[in-house]
Amino acid sequence: VKDGRIAGISAAIRVIPDFPKPGILFQDITTLLLDPKAFKDTIDLFVERYKDKNISVVAGIEARGFIFGPPIALAIGAKFVPMRKPNKLPGEVISEEYSLEYGTDKMEMHVGAVQAGERALVIDDLIATGGTLCAAISLLERVGVHVVECACVIELEYLKDGGGAAIRGEESAAEGG
Ligand code: PRP
Repeated sequence: VKDGRIAGISAAIRVIPDFPKPGILFQDITTLLLDPKAFKDTIDLFVERYKDKNISVVAGIEARGFIFGPPIALAIGAKFVPMRKPNKLPGEVISEEYSLEYGTDKMEMHVGAVQAGERALVIDDLIATGGTLCAAISLLERVGVHVVECACVIELEYLKDGGGAAIRGEESAAEGG
């Protein structure tokens, strides 16, 4: 995404070396949330891209997709659906297992939150390997939802291959903040 607002957004994200372990450059979006202009610009960029795409579902990935997803959902007139870590949702769920660097994790969504034929946008703060977003896409597609696009605030440059929207490209290894 090329836009004059991106430099301010990028500058508001704090990068912390060696967190949570040596060699990781942690992308800390909590400092973006402290800057109302940069936070609003972030939401506005996504809203401008998705407002006329007939999207009825914004699916946010735990945890930081819960920060960026709801304001986008409200602005484009869509519902917000949380994609949660296992055993957090109280109702009937469908689950998708996915691979991590070591081991596996699971993502869950309430049955009945979305209907077959709906059009969804998936939101998270950061894409690294893409495994998390793939699990979200797969969950939604299993119940007949069309995933229009996935969007993140931060994309790791070395893993970049297009197909979605990210505001800030990073050149080195990082984890979400
Ligand atoms: C981070 C980030 C994404 C995911 C991206 O979450 O917020 O959800 O990793 O990684 P991937 O593209 O390689 O799948 P994290 O695992 O730190 O969980 P958290 O949001 O609960 O802290």
